[in-house]
Amino acid sequence: MGDLSGRTALITGAGQNIGAETARVLAARGATVGVNDVLADRAERVVEEIRAAGGEAEPVVADVTDLAAVTEAFGLFGPVDVLVNNAGIPLTGISMQKFVDEDPAGWKAFVDLNVYGPLNCTYVALPGMVERGWGRVITISSESARVGDKLIATYAASKGAGPALMRSLAKEVGRSGVTCNSLSLATQNNAGMDEASDMALKQLRAYAVPRLGRAGDVAAAVAWLVSEDASWVTGQTIPVNGGYATS
Ligand SMILES: NC(=O)c1ccc[n+]([C@@H]2O[C@H](COP(=O)([O-])OP(=O)(O)OC[C@H]3O[C@@H](n4cnc5c(N)ncnc54)[C@H](O)[C@@H]3O)[C@@H](O)[C@H]2O)c1
Repeated sequence: MGDLSGRTALITGAGQNIGAETARVLAARGATVGVNDVLADRAERVVEEIRAAGGEAEPVVADVTDLAAVTEAFGLFGPVDVLVNNAGIPLTGISMQKFVDEDPAGWKAFVDLNVYGPLNCTYVALPGMVERGWGRVITISSESARVGDKLIATYAASKGAGPALMRSLAKEVGRSGVTCNSLSLATQNNAGMDEASDMALKQLRAYAVPRLGRAGDVAAAVAWLVSEDASWVTGQTIPVNGGYATS
């Protein structure tokens, strides 16, 4: 049994990649995991994998941008002890272009997912954590928000909201046994970039550890943040970035 026995953990956007691996790792540590995704088939597949490995999991199908849907789906799952706000890349993906070339019609998708997503999910899950006197909220952000990055300005701007929310809530709920933090990620190996390509090799020159991130890197950091070992860590934005930026 892991250190999360008796706890529940709800991970948004957990139908694949980082969220799915985080769900697997928290389930392996004993949590009953809520696998949220807007696409039911993805959530159900991850739930089946976790159950096949001996863990406990339930699908929590909802669009995190829709407060009514989140309220209903989280309510069916039950009390949430650990919330990981991970859903963050629109189903349409991210196209790289100069800010002034962006179509403003595309901005809303980023604001809805990366600002309203964490707002909605945290708004629904946090009161129960405070009432029960224990909780963990972790929002997955991006180095593009923390240190800036060209050609993805709107994505970066929207990813800045999560850490700001976590910092402020940390100060509101720290006395209730609830911690709120963010992980700030550099590029992952699922971002559609071939690690042997010229583009990747050029990018990796900026990384002290010369490889792209892996879902396991993020899941391990989440597992530490939700453990008792990290009970004095709150309000932080922690880079998980291969040394891409060092302060
Ligand atoms: N991949 C990277 O290189 C990278 C870099 C920095 C930060 N991040 C952040 O890490 C997180 C996870 O990234 P990923 O690469 O695993 O994403 P992904 O796109 O591979 O998976 C995200 C999942 O979220 C689901 N989803 C999308 N919109 C949703 C919604 N409205 N409601 C519920 N679920 C929804 C998708 O169906 C998908 O299964 C995101 O917050 C992202 O911004 C990723």
